[in-house]
Amino acid sequence: MSLPNTPRLLLGPGPSPVSARVAAALAAPQRSHLDPELVAQLDRIRGALLRVFRADPAAAALAISGTGTSGMEAVIANLTRPGSRALVVVTGYFGERLATMLARYGADVTCVEGEWGRAIDPAAVEARLKEATFDLVAVVHAETSTGVCNPVADIARLAHAHDALVIVDAVTSLGAMPLEVAAWGVDACYSCSQKGLGAPSGMAPVVFSPRALERLVDCRSFYLDLNLLLDYWVRRKYHHTISAPLVYALAEALGEVEDEGLEARWERHRMVHEAFVEAMARLGLTLLPPPPERLWSLNTVRVPAGVDEARVRKQLLERESIEIGAGLGPLAGQIFRIGLMGSGATLENVERLSTALAAALQESRV
Ligand SMILES: Cc1ncc(COP(=O)(O)O)c(C=O)c1O
Repeated sequence: MSLPNTPRLLLGPGPSPVSARVAAALAAPQRSHLDPELVAQLDRIRGALLRVFRADPAAAALAISGTGTSGMEAVIANLTRPGSRALVVVTGYFGERLATMLARYGADVTCVEGEWGRAIDPAAVEARLKEATFDLVAVVHAETSTGVCNPVADIARLAHAHDALVIVDAVTSLGAMPLEVAAWGVDACYSCSQKGLGAPSGMAPVVFSPRALERLVDCRSFYLDLNLLLDYWVRRKYHHTISAPLVYALAEALGEVEDEGLEARWERHRMVHEAFVEAMARLGLTLLPPPPERLWSLNTVRVPAGVDEARVRKQLLERESIEIGAGLGPLAGQIFRIGLMGSGATLENVERLSTALAAALQESRV
């Protein structure tokens, strides 16, 4: 069977394009999971993750062998015991997933629901915190299903005032938008390798604050047990056979982030997002969230009336080899999800996409 052999411009909700430097890292010579040269890369990753998450140097950072969902599960599995009281902010599909997973680990879950397409109002979170006691407050920073950025710093401040641990999903923000784990008071945060960082999927960065490390539970998952993972990542004791190519790719992707400079990278994402919004306005298209609540990494564009949205996406893929995403859940058929993340966040890509989209929209009128 032959492998794909043509380029594809990945402008969906993830994965983002892999740069030449990261692609080359995937082909570096194989090493075993305990080889001195491999474990040196683990140390490099741990250090870089503390910086890219902007975490306390005393926090524990590593990458789970798995996708973003494994990061979510690792955080929950190590901080939730049956009966833990969890308050979950739900403003989209991934907030719902957080609530589902917490419930699977036995938490007593209360949801504070917000409109899909809007950020949560911190006052709604505060009201729930005043009504009952919670051990955990969980929120998605960058809600990929709606293109909305939730006010994590405000929520964390409120949660801490009530002595709850703060869990944050940064799957679509790490490396692309301001995220300040220590300064905002985030206790456990997880992300993925395939979006803002620009590596292939398969490694999920996680970080646990010193406060979270003091409140770890007996983890019921063997694979995701933080103490066993730290035994491997720090103390070199076998736990699982980590994938060397994915380690190399993540290490190089983090190297790329640091060479560019984290804040310069955030600024590039912001500037490209603004250019994208202007390009869409020229086509008569609008975004779902109001401007201050928009993600820079993932844009949700309203499908204009009278357009067959599936046909637009098919045409972009087949004629232009450009991938964009569809709406999820209640937003299916109503929005396109367009990611400009990692090495894909360039003005050239905005230009290429808007030209192709203009033609596809013209031909997909029903
Ligand atoms: C906000 C958010 N959380 C969690 C996930 C799950 O990540 P993965 O698909 O890598 O398991 C995603 C995936 O897009 C996401 O956007």
